[in-house]
Amino acid sequence: MSLLAFNARVRREVTAQRPLAHLTTLRVGGPAEYYLEARGFRDVMDAAEACRQTGLPLSVLGGGSNLLIDDAGVPGVVVNLKQMKRVVPTEHRLLVSAGASLTSVVATCARAGIAGPEGLAGIPGTIGGALAMNAGGRFAEIGEFVHKVLWLSPQGTVRYLYREEIQFSYRKSSLQGGVVLEAILEGKRGEPAALLARMKQIMDQKLASQPYAAASAGCAFTNPPGQSAGKLIDLAGCKGMSVGGAQVSEQHGNFIVNKGAATCSDVLKLMGKVKKRVFEHHGIQLIPEVKAWPQPIELAA
Ligand code: FAD
Ligand code: EPU
Repeated sequence: MSLLAFNARVRREVTAQRPLAHLTTLRVGGPAEYYLEARGFRDVMDAAEACRQTGLPLSVLGGGSNLLIDDAGVPGVVVNLKQMKRVVPTEHRLLVSAGASLTSVVATCARAGIAGPEGLAGIPGTIGGALAMNAGGRFAEIGEFVHKVLWLSPQGTVRYLYREEIQFSYRKSSLQGGVVLEAILEGKRGEPAALLARMKQIMDQKLASQPYAAASAGCAFTNPPGQSAGKLIDLAGCKGMSVGGAQVSEQHGNFIVNKGAATCSDVLKLMGKVKKRVFEHHGIQLIPEVKAWPQPIELAA
């Protein structure tokens, strides 16, 4: 379908062949066939409806902090939600639009005395991406703080889902596949000064153990039950291993960093080598955590 025809179906300006690498924290990959920045629910719903009518795939971009985009780019329509960033504190809850940054939401919760989300300090990306991925770590997962989520289903219906209607598990949620539009988060009551101090403590720990200044997509692999993939990769001697511009971080074994000119193909080859070496050393098959567009990652066993 032509750009003109697609444009006619959505109210926002759509661009063709829009580069995406700089919209991801790993900074690799080709362009979106079609790209638009949604200003509100209406734009997202229009784009989704146009995709259903035309058969084009729809991909939702948050902060791009868990994404590996193919060098050939992404067919169909990429909708960026970064302009939808409303954050409204209510009495003991917080209304947040999908494109709001998780870091700013975590800080707002702490200042408002909403306890729990401070455990998510230091996780980049947006609320929508965090809910889709059930982002978290040792201290908390975002699913714990959901009151309800406004969700556009793949079939095109929009409704609030309460926490008990959503499946959250390790780095997964049943919200994937649809579009998170906004959420209402909640927590226990806490003392703002103590929550802000806890945030800083967690952030300091992360800065000491993870390569925050480097271009990466966070942990490349999920942790096998009861184990740390980073530690397994480290013990298998993979730190510093590289393919092209992609390198296993010297600081944390589960981070693959872009030294400047990495391609998606470099990252995938390196992930394959790491997986193979970890299997040889530990007999454990690592599973990718990063989301790949347009095809899920398949590494040889
Ligand atoms: P994106 O990368 O843009 O997208 C990820 C997936 O979510 C895609 O499939 C996308 O389509 C989908 N998505 C995005 N927005 C929506 C939406 N509105 N509705 C539906 N689906 C959507 N993760 C952790 O869990 N814990 C950590 O401690 C952690 N530390 C990190 C540290 C660094 C330095 C980096 C770079 C990453 C880290 N990550 C961590 C990974 C990443 O930050 C999280 O997965 C984050 O929640 C992804 O959010 P995003 O907005 O960037 O999503
Ligand atoms: N370790 C090593 N070598 C390494 C890396 C880690 O020996 O190269 C050791 C550490 O010393 C520590 C243990 O392994 O004893 C665990 O390491 P860490 O505390 O860094 O936690 P992790 O299990 O590697 C997980 C999440 C991170 C999250 C942290 C903190 C996964 C895949 N990773 O890492 O999430 O930030 O806990 O909560 O679940 C992400 O998902 O992208 C991510 C960064």
